[in-house]
Amino acid sequence: TPVSIYRYQGYIFPGQLVMSGVFKELPDFQFRQDDVLVASYPKAGTTWVQEIVYMLMHGCKMTNENSEVLETRFPYLEYPYPGIKSLAAKKEKRFIKTHLPINLLPPSFESSTAKMIYIARNPRDTAISYFYFMQLLTQCNYQGTLSSFIDLFLSDKTMYSPYFGHVLGYWEARHNPNILFVTYEELQQNPEKIIRKMAEFLGMSLSDAEVTYVAENTSFVRMSSNPSVNYEHWKDFGFAFKDKGKFLRKGKVGDWQRHLNKSQVAAFEEWENEHLKNSDLKFSYIC
Ligand code: PPS
Repeated sequence: TPVSIYRYQGYIFPGQLVMSGVFKELPDFQFRQDDVLVASYPKAGTTWVQEIVYMLMHGCKMTNENSEVLETRFPYLEYPYPGIKSLAAKKEKRFIKTHLPINLLPPSFESSTAKMIYIARNPRDTAISYFYFMQLLTQCNYQGTLSSFIDLFLSDKTMYSPYFGHVLGYWEARHNPNILFVTYEELQQNPEKIIRKMAEFLGMSLSDAEVTYVAENTSFVRMSSNPSVNYEHWKDFGFAFKDKGKFLRKGKVGDWQRHLNKSQVAAFEEWENEHLKNSDLKFSYIC
């Protein structure tokens, strides 16, 4: 059976979120002063930033096969597992992932000093990454062509869309001192610079050696071979197909160029121009 999706407050969500009743619980969720969040539209580089933040806040030590998996260390706020109740009950300092658009964030964020890093990725690479991910997940088991997926993406029908509502909502909030807005492309271009910026935002001052160490150990190659962050265990649990690629798939800026034909690029350009015409947000599309 295909995965069900619902529109709620203008955004598309996986049916299981809506069914779980989480949208009734979110408004009362209390952020704590020392919570750290990573937020994004899916496939923007969430996992990468989560692991950087986790290392930064744990003495820059790298994780390995003996560490708990990322989704346990850094749970997903609105997802039913482990669930919002378990996050609310958690005694230790909390690291929280969310794909919620800013208008659906629990209002206690505004009145807390919780810190959030939002990562945005150019829409073309985001869409390509999303296409492969929808094929990888057993629950989604996407069977359509790339071309049909692009149509869905450009018509705001993929989960957590509208993409531009999501990204621009956080972009407009970027001057909030508790929000740091970064892009996947700038993180790729200069990981050390952006890691230092994240550390400063989180109130830490790192040595050059520490910055280099974090950058090296959160590189695509290192993370791909780290079972604590590469999501390969999803294959054993039946969440992901064994033969349909990897969660850490390519990790590049500009992979869209190998996938999109001229008319698809033109459709993206038109859509991007329309949504960015009144914004000073600019994406890099190639590196
Ligand atoms: S999710 O499911 O929304 O949490 O996915 P998310 O982590 O946001 O996005 C997955 C894409 O990010 C790439 N990724 C990385 N790129 C570079 N370096 C590192 N360390 C890294 N970690 C994850 C991952 O490969 C997915 O992008 P694609 O283009 O599919 O490779």
